[in-house]
Amino acid sequence: MIDALPRIEVGATPPHDDAQLAWLTDSIARNRFLPQPDPSNIFVGDGDFRAIGAEFLGHFVRLGGLRPSHRVLDIGCGIGRMAVPLTQYLDGEHGRYDGVDPVEGGIRWCKSAVAPHYPNFSFQHLDIAHDLYNPKGAIKGRALTLPFADGQFDFIIMTSVVTHLPADEVMAYLREIVRVLRVGGRLFMSAFIVDDIAAKNATGRRDPRLGFARAGQGPCWFVPGQPPLAAVGFDDGFLDTAFDRTGLSVVLKSLGHWRAPGGSHYQDILVGERLRSHA
Ligand SMILES: C[S@@+](CC[C@H](N)C(=O)[O-])C[C@H]1O[C@@H](n2cnc3c(N)ncnc32)[C@H](O)[C@@H]1O
Repeated sequence: MIDALPRIEVGATPPHDDAQLAWLTDSIARNRFLPQPDPSNIFVGDGDFRAIGAEFLGHFVRLGGLRPSHRVLDIGCGIGRMAVPLTQYLDGEHGRYDGVDPVEGGIRWCKSAVAPHYPNFSFQHLDIAHDLYNPKGAIKGRALTLPFADGQFDFIIMTSVVTHLPADEVMAYLREIVRVLRVGGRLFMSAFIVDDIAAKNATGRRDPRLGFARAGQGPCWFVPGQPPLAAVGFDDGFLDTAFDRTGLSVVLKSLGHWRAPGGSHYQDILVGERLRSHA
């Protein structure tokens, strides 16, 4: 029986008032007056839209070191699941948020339901091709240039996005992320890391939907019987090395309970910090 999944933490996360944060995330989860899309339009996964967003806000602050004054970029922002709780956290004067996504309908909803009430929130459609989310997209993910200037973000979010991307697109994103992050800025990424416990289902309690099989020599793992990009796992070590190669130091690696009981979150979480210089 595994009670606690491993977590590696290197480097300090700035202090925060945990009681106040718990109060905030709890009140967001219960606040039915916050913008919420029609359930039939939610394409970002099942579960309680507001509660999942509120849970992640807690992870961004506790595990990632997000602060109210940060300039945030949300890559693959979908239909605003992370943006809505961030409207209650980022400070209106200094904090700001940009979200990008290839699904036009999600961005349209965010532009009409969120941005008009929160002038420091902005959303942009990027026509990136994806077999499932945007099959007719004009831009290849591998060749993507993010439409932002160098060094302008403090905190970049990628939740449940690389869980749908091939390895070469992950590498392309990491290079762009390092370009648009300020030195010392952080990337918060959720992923499926296929370690031994996950691969062998050692506890017999892995999420039954995620019976990953390795594709060729790796690093990707796909779920047999599903389109490859429906759920993508990576060899343990692939993302750590990719962070390192692109100039991000891994400051946190926290394994999630999709693989086995334990841990305070479902997907795995990696936090990387942009190094001062990168050869
Ligand atoms: C499971 S959803 C997660 C959405 C959002 N991050 C959240 O947690 O609510 C996956 C998202 O990744 C987006 N996506 C797919 N391919 C992408 C790409 N190449 N670049 C950026 N986003 C992408 C999809 O459009 C979709 O919104």
